[in-house]
Amino acid sequence: MPSRCKIRLAPFRFRQANLPRLGSLSDMRRPNFIAKHARNAQGLLGRVIAFIMAHETWSQNLRVMDALRIGRSDHIIDVGCGHGRSLSELATRASMGHVVGADPSDLMVEIASQRNRPLIDAARVKVVLATVESLPFADESFDKVLCVHVLYFWKDLDASLREVARVLKPGGRSGLLFRTKADPAAIASFPAEIYRFPELAEVTEALEQAGLDVHAASDRSNEPVLLIAEKRRAQTAEGPQSTDQAETIAVRRAIT
Ligand SMILES: C[S@@+](CC[C@H](N)C(=O)[O-])C[C@H]1O[C@@H](n2cnc3c(N)ncnc32)[C@H](O)[C@@H]1O
Repeated sequence: MPSRCKIRLAPFRFRQANLPRLGSLSDMRRPNFIAKHARNAQGLLGRVIAFIMAHETWSQNLRVMDALRIGRSDHIIDVGCGHGRSLSELATRASMGHVVGADPSDLMVEIASQRNRPLIDAARVKVVLATVESLPFADESFDKVLCVHVLYFWKDLDASLREVARVLKPGGRSGLLFRTKADPAAIASFPAEIYRFPELAEVTEALEQAGLDVHAASDRSNEPVLLIAEKRRAQTAEGPQSTDQAETIAVRRAIT
């Protein structure tokens, strides 16, 4: 090969060797301009970030789906569905039910709609432009609410969880997955101007206030927290109605 060719290739090889691998992005501190796209993806960079996100968050989405114990006839909403990768998996698990993805980013709604086009055409999946603060659904519409790595961006945690509770049927379950203030890797990797990491107790208290009982909390170190909560049914004079409610009381004592 002529030497001129080697000289032209060298800078390319140098730059390639220094590019972050897709999988290694989670180990880096996100610059603000990238973190902003996680909150509100836009343009070409937003598309790239949506693509990376769909891979980075997948195992955690599956973790929430498993814990929610999706039923075949469930009506499910994924709040902050982003790229919409979860929606087809939810539709497979709820093969006789219905799945909605809600997200306030026009770009994410476009990507999620493209990704799920056949299921949307078959009326099994719907993607809507909406924030958690104002979900365009009637009270008690859903059996399950999924919400993965979204609550950092909520303006008002209490009002948002009240809205989640409103659209859940009594006995319906929410699965919230998020990193907390107690997670040093999260604090180090994401800019505080964009991500607000809550305390675990703050979220469990807000869930309780919204009318949901926390059934299960998984708080392993270096893992995001997973909270499964159930919308309260009317109480009877005899106290807790089910073994689930008895479990809830035990979980609440363990967390607080
Ligand atoms: C980090 S992404 C997570 C996406 C997806 N849940 C996942 O697991 O990959 C956060 C998503 O939350 C959405 N979002 C931001 N603010 C929101 C709000 N107030 N209500 C609902 N979704 C919101 C963003 O548009 C973005 O798609």
